[in-house]
Amino acid sequence: MTKTQTLFQSYDLQDTLKLKNRIVMAPLTRCMATDELVPTQAMADYYARRADAGLIISEATLVSQDGQGYPNAPGLYTEAQVAGWKKVTQAIHQNKGKIFAQIWHTGRVSHSIYHQGQVPMAPSAIRLEGRVPRTDDLEYETPRAMNLEDIERIKSNFVTAAKNAQRAGFDGIEIHGANGYLIDQFLHRDSNHRTDSYGGSIENMMRFLLEILTQVKAATPDLAIGLRLSPQAYANMKHDDRDKELYDVLLSRLNQYNLAYIHTGMFNDSHNEFLGGTVTQYIRKNYLGTVIASGGYSADDAVHAIENKYADLVAIGRPFIANHDYVTKIQEQKKLVEYDPEMLTSLY
Ligand code: FNR
Repeated sequence: MTKTQTLFQSYDLQDTLKLKNRIVMAPLTRCMATDELVPTQAMADYYARRADAGLIISEATLVSQDGQGYPNAPGLYTEAQVAGWKKVTQAIHQNKGKIFAQIWHTGRVSHSIYHQGQVPMAPSAIRLEGRVPRTDDLEYETPRAMNLEDIERIKSNFVTAAKNAQRAGFDGIEIHGANGYLIDQFLHRDSNHRTDSYGGSIENMMRFLLEILTQVKAATPDLAIGLRLSPQAYANMKHDDRDKELYDVLLSRLNQYNLAYIHTGMFNDSHNEFLGGTVTQYIRKNYLGTVIASGGYSADDAVHAIENKYADLVAIGRPFIANHDYVTKIQEQKKLVEYDPEMLTSLY
């Protein structure tokens, strides 16, 4: 038995969803869709080359145009986008792979250049410090606080995107509740200063996410729903000690939602004083269902996490950009090409 054999055990994600191995391709924004945010044939080919992963999670995909914060990131709210994604899911299925759509709204991690001069919206009018990626060094702006109509509309956009994902042939969806984007902005003290029923108490701060889950579940009862979370603020968000209380409650509450999995949103999932372990270990401690680890995992780290039962599956990001044949290389113990950000300029 080779060292990495553990990664090649199959896994029943849900009754009808069997993964052929424990390796997940992490969601990776590539900004290669058309100007109408439609996935292309080149994207279908790129994903199809990686179909030997147990599960692919698509790059973050917009539920509505007002969620855009990057150029040429794909959407899932027009018929042309659904048709584009169909090509991707068919290519994956032809190669015997499985793919979930990660559905997304950036909230304040955006800029008025994407919204005809209007500032983006967020739970509260609190500016993110820093520069907007892939622009000419523009700074983030103070967003406008969402009103209750905005909240209702965005929730229904998540529902429509889930239905569209099902029509496009995805095997499931992952709701992007991580990395400082809109849902995460409701879950952290740094970005949620609301005083209405969507802020203040833990119950109120969780409401937006939990309502999305309930509504998506009701609209697509047969669709597998995963969720990515960042209990430790690390991207597009400032840390606040009070955040842990919320995640303690949220993770145990999520046990009632029959999710396909919870997925760690973290760049480097190392030991973390705040949570008393890695973020994945913390999720595992509080949540009873399937856990996907992510954040700087080598194949050996992945074996360690699975054998020690910290995680059931491990998502691999940057090495999958650098190695379309990541799974074969791990299986055959071949040397991996090292990731270089320069690789983001092409879609091999
Ligand atoms: C990412 N990551 C990311 N996460 C996410 O939830 N949705 C996304 O669309 C993206 N996009 C993205 C693009 C690029 C270029 C990078 C490098 C990362 C985070 C990614 O899924 C993963 O969590 C991290 O890269 C850490 O895992 P690795 O790369 O160390 O295996």
